[in-house]
Amino acid sequence: MKILIVGNGGRESALAWKLKDDPRVTEMYFAGGNASTQEWGKNIVESGVEELRNFALKKQIDLTIVGPEAPLVAGLVDEFKNYDLKVFGPRKRAAELEGSKAFSKKFMQDNTIKTAKAKIFESYNDAIDYVSEQSFPLVIKASGLAGGKGVIICQNLTDAKATIHALMIERIYGDAGIQLVIEEYLKGFEASVIAFSNGKNLFPCIAVKDYKKAGNGDKGPNTGGMGTVAPSPQFTEAHYEDFKKNILEPTILGLEAQNLQFKGFIFFGLMITENGTYLLEYNMRMGDPETQVLMPLLENNLLDVINDCMEGKDVQLSFKNEKAVCLVMASGGYPGRYDTGFEIRNLDKVKDSIVFFAGAAHKGTHFVTNGGRVLNLVATAETYEQARATVYEDAKTINFDYEYYREDIGKF
Ligand code: AMP
Ligand code: GLY
Repeated sequence: MKILIVGNGGRESALAWKLKDDPRVTEMYFAGGNASTQEWGKNIVESGVEELRNFALKKQIDLTIVGPEAPLVAGLVDEFKNYDLKVFGPRKRAAELEGSKAFSKKFMQDNTIKTAKAKIFESYNDAIDYVSEQSFPLVIKASGLAGGKGVIICQNLTDAKATIHALMIERIYGDAGIQLVIEEYLKGFEASVIAFSNGKNLFPCIAVKDYKKAGNGDKGPNTGGMGTVAPSPQFTEAHYEDFKKNILEPTILGLEAQNLQFKGFIFFGLMITENGTYLLEYNMRMGDPETQVLMPLLENNLLDVINDCMEGKDVQLSFKNEKAVCLVMASGGYPGRYDTGFEIRNLDKVKDSIVFFAGAAHKGTHFVTNGGRVLNLVATAETYEQARATVYEDAKTINFDYEYYREDIGKF
């Protein structure tokens, strides 16, 4: 079987790692890829929906898995399906559940999915009038994709007015700011639950805790994720039941009612408050770095699960009764400006962690940094403490100039 994986992060490395030893997988190609995927398959330069479709036709790819949101929102799945190519991911219309926060919020409201109270705005003046009558904090979101930067928590009216101006008039995130979602601020802890979809039903994985902020103690700017632990230590059985009843089941019904069913992944970004579990957002893909802790714990064969979903069969997911910790080693300065091209040393001295490269490339005989999140160290163990000790020991061994990582991943 020939597989094409689209994307170049640690998420794609973890998916590839889970598939690489499957005897049915004869060739793996990565659109983009990184230093790990280069070791387990072949990185290709083709990008964009049409180039990738041509590549898949030429190589007779049997299955394509899409990592990031942009190609989904650009219609990669629709294009592949037009040419009878098998692809795991939602069509453009369903990908809008991630691509448009306005569409997504309306879907949640129409299907009585528990979410923060919100209003959608297309007019600058209406948005300004509205915030003038609200209490704070208040959350203002650019509706379109803004590289994870489009959500701004405003503490007062001055902030809110400046934010609306920046998004809608200055268009700091371009067309993402044409529409805004303005919603109530929810206080609690977050959890990521990712489910497989077989076109009818959703099959959730264990909940993951993602460390989104750049600094220790959840300080500093938001990032793509500086580390993860699974299962989330805070997300109890009661939270799961609440999620199932008020979010998962109405989502399944809503997808059917609005003819948005798909075969692929769906990611629920949850906020658990003292009033229960709320849905903050959908992502129509696996998470990064959530995938890096889920794949080592998943007991099922990943190809079997995907094949079953593709055929519309139900799947029974099973996870090891262990804890997994993922630590992201990043380039100093990330998520802001950073330099790249530095040699990553001592990789041969890594003891018990799995290394999933992300923003790293081969250069001659060695590895160099080429992105913000450079690599992930992942360990599984009976306890969080053991898994945490393993990744931190290996993080101390590895070094590259200006390396940066959080000190408190998996520390509760
Ligand atoms: P989103 O892209 O909608 O998940 O938002 C990104 C991040 O902003 C979330 O992971 C939360 O940390 C925060 N956030 C989003 N919506 C809210 C909300 N209504 N209340 C509090 N924090 C929020
Ligand atoms: N780690 C959050 C995301 O993948 O969107």
